[in-house]
Parts: sequence; C-alpha cells; structure tokens
Amino acid sequence: MASALEENGVGHLTSVDSTRWQWKNPTPGEVLEKAGLSKFVTLDKKSSTYAWFLKHELESCMDETGAVHPKYDFIFLDGAKNWSTDGITVTVAERLLRPAGWLLLDDLTWTYAKHCPGKKRHYDVDLTKLSDSERTEPHLQAIFNLLIRTNPAFDKFVVQDEWWGWARKSPTPGPSGPLANGSSRAVTSQRVITPRGARARALLRRALRARGK
Ligand SMILES: C[S@@+](CC[C@H](N)C(=O)[O-])C[C@H]1O[C@@H](n2cnc3c(N)ncnc32)[C@H](O)[C@@H]1O
Repeated sequence: MASALEENGVGHLTSVDSTRWQWKNPTPGEVLEKAGLSKFVTLDKKSSTYAWFLKHELESCMDETGAVHPKYDFIFLDGAKNWSTDGITVTVAERLLRPAGWLLLDDLTWTYAKHCPGKKRHYDVDLTKLSDSERTEPHLQAIFNLLIRTNPAFDKFVVQDEWWGWARKSPTPGPSGPLANGSSRAVTSQRVITPRGARARALLRRALRARGK
C-alpha cells in the first residue's frame, strides 16, 4: 500500500495494531525504512484494540452537532476475525469513510474451527469458551451480511473468492436507518485465482454439505 501511495504521489496510510502483542524482527517500521517508504505510513500501536483507536478517530472527526466529517478513502480490516471486535470496528469505520470510499474485509469465510485446530487461544479469544456456532460460523461473513450489506450508507458490494468482501460508501448521502423494505441488496461475486481462494471455496462447499444444502 505504501508503495502504491508513493507511485500515486498522494495519500497516507495509518496502520493500526495492538499493544497486546509484540512486533518481531523485522518490525513493520524496519521494513518500511528498508523500502524507503516510512514517510507514507504512520504505525499506531497505542491501544489494545483498533476498535478503541477508531473511537478516538470518531471523536476527532465529530463536530459539536454530532456530524461526522470523514477522513478515510479506504479502510482495510485484516485483524481479529471476531464478531465482537470487528462488528464495532466496521460500524465505526463506515462513519469515517468518505463518500465513494471503500471498506475491505479479509478472511470472509475464516472460522475458528477450521483455522485454529488444537489451539486454545486466538489473539484475545479463549477458544475453549466458545459455543459451537461461534467456533464453526464465519464471523466476518456474518459482519458482511448482517452489518454491512444492510447498511444504507453503502451502495456497492463485491465478494471475491468468498474471502474478500468489498463495500463502497455511497457517493451521495442516503437515508439513514435500516432498509425500509428489509430487502437485501445485490452482491457481485468475482473470482480471483489464488490458492487462498481455492481453500475458501473448498471450505464453503464442506460447510454447505455439512448443513445439508
Ligand atoms: C492476520 S494479521 C495481518 C497483519 C497485516 N495486515 C499483514 O497482512 O501482515 C492480523 C493482525 O491483526 C492484529 N490484531 C488482531 N486483533 C487486533 C485488535 N483487536 N486490535 C488491533 N490489532 C489486532 C494482530 O496483531 C495482527 O498483526
């Protein structure tokens, strides 16, 4: 992303991680330094969660009337993969996106059951305490379908390889509140050939088989 900004000659990336985990060798700062791209990136590791970073961002973008003056053109969420953390994160992220800005989610069909076999923890989540549905259902897909697709602030949706979910903030402000008729809005599906895509498709096929569909 930083090299794309350099090529475009405009823009700045803020990359947020958590105080809970250590950056290893080489650190993101060292990689950026080596690539000569440090000036395009601010690394933020002040909060335990990006959800709290976004709370500060929301405060700083909100005026005294409660109106939000958004500042981001693109927000990429590649983190916890958990309903609780990422649900609030996408909700606030939408408020911070400029008209026609894009939100991108990685790991759409990722599940604890499939991707953390034999593990007791994943980031801050104690996997031994999860219910069956929390372990087996993809949290980010639920976030995409239940919180993003139904949000009238977004007007375009693209799913790639059942793994990447894109949503565009409408270029013009729309009505607020849930969709009036409760209808769902079209999602364009695209295939990008990657090994990850193949894994995601196999996972989905297995999940659908298991549910008898
Ligand atoms: C799958 S890695 C992706 C990192 C980076 N996008 C990349 O491709 O190298 C997920 C990252 O999310 C961070 N993370 C997980 N939960 C987080 C949270 N609640 N707040 C901030 N960062 C979090 C982890 O520390 C980790 O660096």
